[in-house]
Amino acid sequence: MVPHPNVVALIVALAGLVSSSPLHTGTRAFSVSQVANPNFKPHGLVEIAKSLTKYGVSLPEGLARIVADASVARLAERGTGSVKANPLAWDRGYLTPVQIGTPPQTLELDIDSGSSDLWVFSDLTPKEQRQGGVLYNSTKSATAKKIDGAAWNITYGDQSSCHGIVFHDTVIFTLDTFTRGLLGLGFNKINTVKPKQERTWFENAAKGLDAPIWTADLHHAKAGTYDFGFINKTKYAGNITYVDVDSSGGLWGIQMSGYSIGNGTFKNITFKGIADTGTSLALLPKDVVKAYYSTVPNATYNEEFGYFFPCAVLPPKFVLGIGAARITIPSEYIRYSVADELSRECFGGLQPDDRIGFSILGDVVLKSAFVVFDATPDKPRLGLATKKR
Ligand SMILES: *[C@@H]1O[C@H](CO)[C@@H](O)[C@H](O)[C@H]1NC(C)=O
Ligand SMILES: *[C@@H]1O[C@H](CO)[C@@H](O)[C@H](O)[C@H]1NC(C)=O
Ligand SMILES: *[C@@H]1O[C@H](CO)[C@@H](O)[C@H](O)[C@H]1NC(C)=O
Ligand SMILES: *[C@@H]1O[C@H](CO)[C@@H](O)[C@H](O)[C@H]1NC(C)=O
Ligand SMILES: *[C@@H]1O[C@H](CO)[C@@H](O)[C@H](O)[C@H]1NC(C)=O
Ligand SMILES: *[C@@H]1O[C@H](CO)[C@@H](O)[C@H](O)[C@H]1NC(C)=O
Ligand SMILES: *[C@@H]1O[C@H](CO)[C@@H](O)[C@H](O)[C@H]1NC(C)=O
Repeated sequence: MVPHPNVVALIVALAGLVSSSPLHTGTRAFSVSQVANPNFKPHGLVEIAKSLTKYGVSLPEGLARIVADASVARLAERGTGSVKANPLAWDRGYLTPVQIGTPPQTLELDIDSGSSDLWVFSDLTPKEQRQGGVLYNSTKSATAKKIDGAAWNITYGDQSSCHGIVFHDTVIFTLDTFTRGLLGLGFNKINTVKPKQERTWFENAAKGLDAPIWTADLHHAKAGTYDFGFINKTKYAGNITYVDVDSSGGLWGIQMSGYSIGNGTFKNITFKGIADTGTSLALLPKDVVKAYYSTVPNATYNEEFGYFFPCAVLPPKFVLGIGAARITIPSEYIRYSVADELSRECFGGLQPDDRIGFSILGDVVLKSAFVVFDATPDKPRLGLATKKR
């Protein structure tokens, strides 16, 4: 087993581009560690906005205004320009270093099971839309190959969009640093490259791996790891419980089996959702979320923004049923972010999914378990196990 890198490869997309190319020889399994993004400040409302825009929902006016203000404040801090390219999709607390090209250019990407493109900012990105940090420069890469006539374009619910041209190039995971972009680990179906859809990086890479799987071992307030091609048995306790994945929408779609609040009894209800490493919060059916916050002293609900509660309150844990698995989300994860300058009100990590129409299991849920994304063709499945702490 090769623990990190040098190898494996490829599909690259860039903010100006996307791509793919055959696998390098050698590595059959490897791991990558996240690194902290020093520019990131958690902001619950921005996270809600990210999820809505990602899944095609227009932002309510008040929320759009808050997000615009937050984006401007953040750019002002960094001393950079305007906010044209959608910065929401990739600005995350933890990013994963990936090397693209020959010789390698190192960029930090957000590993996102909720999308299927690999894109990065490049030297072709207009100056006023760059977000700082390293840019991919295709003319510096001997292996970069522009795909003539190919383009990609993702439109978000707030009508902003990201688009670009497409290159094939080599992609290698690494352990050093610096830039921004997104590596989609969803299924081919939703890859946005046209006129001819590209295979995702993982589909290319999987052919050279021992098994077509990757695992997420994410943590609260510290960097986690992703493993590709193998399951590291030291990272979980007990057995892995698998549920079938519905990949017909291009996403990691699963069915939930119920929930419990604190030490309460487990309530059997079924609802559909997706496992999305590219989302921070847990967005769940509104009745479930309402039942949860009814047990939190002085919790308040704002129709536009969601649930808040006093930061001084430690809310109960929340247990989510996925098939036979039970994932316990600790109280601290649900006290997601401080929402006012006096640190009195906190924004909840569980919020209603009603505007989106299906549940989204973001990092608040995924970091509460050891998660196996098994992309075996025709029978994808998701595995869940108790994390070793
Ligand atoms: C990209 O690389 C080329 C070739 O080395 C160089 O001439 C050009 O200035 C670079 N562009 C940027 C924006 O760095
Ligand atoms: C991207 O798609 C949107 C919606 O289909 C369209 O309005 C926009 O012009 C497209 N942008 C580019 C650069 O193709
Ligand atoms: C498995 O995970 C442990 C930490 O939990 C790590 O020390 C070890 O190197 C990993 N093994 C492989 C083969 O990556
Ligand atoms: C794990 O599965 C094995 C075989 O199905 C079973 O014997 C064992 O009791 C299970 N262990 C736990 C902790 O559930
Ligand atoms: C829930 O159960 C645990 C373990 O039995 C106990 O320590 C804890 O105090 C209980 N919590 C509540 C709110 O009753
Ligand atoms: C909930 O479902 C489990 C497993 O399907 C079953 O054993 C249990 O009796 C159900 N509980 C209720 C209250 O229906
Ligand atoms: C809830 O609000 C009431 C009325 O404002 C206040 O007296 C009480 O201390 C609050 N409780 C908590 C846990 O914040």
